[in-house]
Amino acid sequence: MEKDLCGYILEGELLEVLTYPDTILTTPSKSVEVFDDKLKLLCKNMLYTMYNAPGIGLAAPQIGLNQRIFVLDVNYKREETSEGSEEYHLSEFTPQIFINPVITDKKGETLLEEGCLSLPGVFESVQRFENVSLNYKNTDGISHSIDATELLGICIQHENDHLDGVVFIDKLSLLKKKFIKKKLIKTKKQGL
Ligand code: CO
Repeated sequence: MEKDLCGYILEGELLEVLTYPDTILTTPSKSVEVFDDKLKLLCKNMLYTMYNAPGIGLAAPQIGLNQRIFVLDVNYKREETSEGSEEYHLSEFTPQIFINPVITDKKGETLLEEGCLSLPGVFESVQRFENVSLNYKNTDGISHSIDATELLGICIQHENDHLDGVVFIDKLSLLKKKFIKKKLIKTKKQGL
């Protein structure tokens, strides 16, 4: 865990999140080759954008970059500052950054309702692997691996799919996907 990232969360640049069916979201991403300060800044701003949305994961294609990067935090707390308030207090951050991730092993089956910042208002149950193993690099280009299960495992699979140009409705039946796509295009046209 990159603890120093916690300080990053309080400030940053809010990046624009693209919505489906933007072509960047359906294009496979390229590996990161350069591990420099620019990459660190990008990851920091992706985390900042994710926490503000709020979301539990964000992949680079969602902010318009076809690069193999995603960030996530499946543990942080989000509480209303007072009852009925529109303001929230975020705490207990556990940010994680994955660069050039590769799923090396997958086992079991699980089903959970998923959403995505790029598909606003859509929530559907998606079948995933229950356990995944992942190799990845951190922002310094150092290799790591992780075994993940439960929400973290699901989130890793969802975000990793984004890097291959796959969104979660691609996992549903063709008919269901068609219906949701139509609805999203209509909403986008109305500027909602
Ligand atoms: Co998503």
